[in-house]
Amino acid sequence: VTLDQYLADRTSAVNAALERLLPPENQYPETIHAAMRHSVFAGGKRIRPILFIAAGEAAPQSAEGAESAACALELVHTYSLIHDDLPALDNDHFRRGKPACHKVYGEAVAILAGDALLTMAFQVLAGVKGIPSVNQVRLVAEIANAAGTVNGMIGGQVADLEAEGKAVDAARLDYIHRSKTGALIGAAVRMGGIYADADAQQLAALSRYGEHIGLAFQIVDDILDVVGTSEALGKTAGKDAAQQKATFPALYGVETSRARAQEHFQQATDALDVFGERAIRLRQIAEKIVQRTS
Ligand code: IPE
Ligand code: IPE
Ligand code: MG
Ligand code: MG
Ligand code: MG
Repeated sequence: VTLDQYLADRTSAVNAALERLLPPENQYPETIHAAMRHSVFAGGKRIRPILFIAAGEAAPQSAEGAESAACALELVHTYSLIHDDLPALDNDHFRRGKPACHKVYGEAVAILAGDALLTMAFQVLAGVKGIPSVNQVRLVAEIANAAGTVNGMIGGQVADLEAEGKAVDAARLDYIHRSKTGALIGAAVRMGGIYADADAQQLAALSRYGEHIGLAFQIVDDILDVVGTSEALGKTAGKDAAQQKATFPALYGVETSRARAQEHFQQATDALDVFGERAIRLRQIAEKIVQRTS
């Protein structure tokens, strides 16, 4: 099976699981469920749940039913996008090729839709069946830490906002990218390993892989904001420069940023040696992450 077919198959499995998990649009109060579904089903590469599943497949006892648990990542991620687009944060009008949540449903409902998706992620993990409960608790801890304020997504988002219009040094830029984006991607990989009961050595390898592709992912996001089109990205291109965001291209230029992403790709795949052939999908996904155009 080619990588594209693999990604298409996993995307459908994740979408089917999300469809089962999200309350229907006709569930009262309808507005909030419509808003949640608007953002979740607007599109999206589903890279975080797919990384969860692929990491589980690399571990020796790949487990069944991983896609429901993997959806927790997509729920937290989609919440972060809804809030990231709000006027008080990045003030974006488009997301995943559609109007941003608050453009359709208003700010109050968009804020609540984000809150609801975040909360639902924990509901989903609480409902996971078929794995040891100690691992289930570890999944909860992983996602909570990654979404939090200490080296987590919210910490990174705060540092990102506070860096707007300021000269930022390499260490601070590194903190922003590792925290706002790298943490959740790293958690996705580690959670897939935990779900499949990976041992300590395997989990350490997955952690290194996740750390490097997480950082590479945001470097490429920054590059695409400069070189991509709004049509291809499904979100407004060129907004980082307009908002004087702290980005890799702003600090290093596009060419050096590309070289950095490539270095992280190399370090990510080097970390997978312990898995041998079983990590083929993780290697291919890492390559896709640095070569993507959307
Ligand atoms: C965009 O994430 C926001 C970042 C953290 C860089 P993705 O590029 O994964 O967005 P979707 O999920 O495919 O829309
Ligand atoms: C997004 O970073 C990080 C999170 C949503 C946590 P960006 O602000 O660069 O993401 P885009 O470019 O709007 O997708
Ligand atoms: Mg942002
Ligand atoms: Mg943004
Ligand atoms: Mg961006």
